[in-house]
Amino acid sequence: MPSSMARALALALLLSASPALAQPSAERQRELIDFVRQDCGACHGLTLKGGLGSPLLPQALAGRDKEGLIELILNGKPGTPMPPWKGLLSRAEIAWIVEYLMSGAADAR
Ligand code: HEC
Repeated sequence: MPSSMARALALALLLSASPALAQPSAERQRELIDFVRQDCGACHGLTLKGGLGSPLLPQALAGRDKEGLIELILNGKPGTPMPPWKGLLSRAEIAWIVEYLMSGAADAR
């Protein structure tokens, strides 16, 4: 195998070995924004001000531990209607959603 090809392969392996660090692509970010509005919004309110689920606005999440929120979204909250999302969303995607909710960008519509 030509050495340039070997280098490209090694790079691809290196990148795919650290998915937790990878930001979702721009296209995936657009999908995640729709997902938050439609799927999370079904319970948390279309404007995320709360409904069956608690508000997800930046004020409501301010000062919260990000890792804790990521775990909560990955695994759901037992004994409440909050379902686990780990089958549908990766940890990196959920981390992105938490940043997105805390940044207030979800509110700026
Ligand atoms: C089937 C309804 C439902 C859906 C869909 C849902 N949630 Fe929830 N969620 C809840 C409920 C109910 C709670 C409040 C649990 C409780 O009583 O503490 C909650 C709690 C939370 C909390 C904790 C809030 C806090 O202040 O502690 C976060 C964060 C959260 N949800 C994020 C999400 C995200 C992100 C999505 C979409 C991926 C989502 N939820 C989809 C029902 C839902």
